[in-house]
Amino acid sequence: MKILAVLYSGGKSALAEPRLLSTVENKLGMASWLKSLGHEYIVTDDKEGPNSVFQKELPDADVLITTPFHPAYLTGDLIRQKASKLKLALTAGVGSDHVDLNAANEKKIMVAEVTGSNVTSVAEHVVMDMLNLVRNFVPAHEMAKRGDWDVSAIARNAFDLEGKVIGTLGAGRIGRLVLQRVKPFDPKELLYYDYNPMPADIANALGARHVPDLKEFLGQCDVVTVNAPLHEGTRGLINSELLQHFKKGAWIVNTARGAICDRIAIKEALESGQINGYAGDVWDVQPAPKDHPWRTMQNPLGGGNAMTPHYSGTTLDAQKRYADGTKDILERWFKGEAQEPANVIVEDGQYATRSCGYNSNYRIGCH
Ligand code: NAI
Repeated sequence: MKILAVLYSGGKSALAEPRLLSTVENKLGMASWLKSLGHEYIVTDDKEGPNSVFQKELPDADVLITTPFHPAYLTGDLIRQKASKLKLALTAGVGSDHVDLNAANEKKIMVAEVTGSNVTSVAEHVVMDMLNLVRNFVPAHEMAKRGDWDVSAIARNAFDLEGKVIGTLGAGRIGRLVLQRVKPFDPKELLYYDYNPMPADIANALGARHVPDLKEFLGQCDVVTVNAPLHEGTRGLINSELLQHFKKGAWIVNTARGAICDRIAIKEALESGQINGYAGDVWDVQPAPKDHPWRTMQNPLGGGNAMTPHYSGTTLDAQKRYADGTKDILERWFKGEAQEPANVIVEDGQYATRSCGYNSNYRIGCH
């Protein structure tokens, strides 16, 4: 079989650190294994445009491996016009929104990912981002590096997480782990909004209350963390209209997908003070252009921005887990064995998950 992988270039870091598995250099640690099985394994980071290695190799590929960190966008057009042999689109990580799932269904391509592999890594990052924003950390650190000392300039916009209302938009694996992790901070209340409400025993154990109306949910939260996948129902969801329904001065942490939030609307809401901070590691295109407004936007007090490149789910611990999971999915695929149900996003022309928006085309018994 021909297996095509689009990974990110790790440069000197990847040569010095072999645990950086999801790089072009270290090839998910699978090159010799795949070779020993007689498969052709092509690895590239070149993913944009018709002359990219990705698009040139796609027509012959049986399996495509991508990651959300350096996404090769497998669009409907590419699926219909170029990916004629493709049978499996495998995401090394979590989140397959860079694949047109409806087109994959049309062509009966299986889309699978390593569900759960990096959810703890992301949840930890979310808690870090919340503290970063609420405690006004970034301007304080920049001040220390500059050699200045003006405590009031920082403290005038620094708060405690204790006593705040914290809500997650999307309460699946990551959303729940975030709620569990922030509970010991003694928030005033933990809320969630999800069209798949949690089982009562789990919600009770977390102490989380479901608010079924999105605007009511947003209007009550001091901190909103976004943990829903990107799909037709969430693309551009947080736009200038919806931002008016947030509590004034709320903080937003989005480690789900950049395109859930409108690029300009977020910048304007931050600059006007409608929101007090925005943090996360996901961008509406990746790599983000140098002039992307989220790199430099600030609130009126010169803080409120804790953006990073997309790395929350690609810690060295996470890379080991999703590289192992990718190998497991491939092994089952080669042997014709069933996949772990939780790893399957679409199969046989049907959705195998309920996480990707309202859809009538669900497989019976999907997760
Ligand atoms: P999950 O499938 O366990 O949970 C997602 C939840 O979102 C589900 O409960 C679903 O019902 C809910 N949801 C879907 N659409 C919604 C909507 N319109 N409104 C409210 N809730 C909605 O997924 P998991 O593992 O928690 O991951 C969530 C997302 O986080 C992934 O899809 C991915 O985009 C992102 N992610 C980001 C990473 C990073 O490195 N920054 C790494 C891993 C995941």
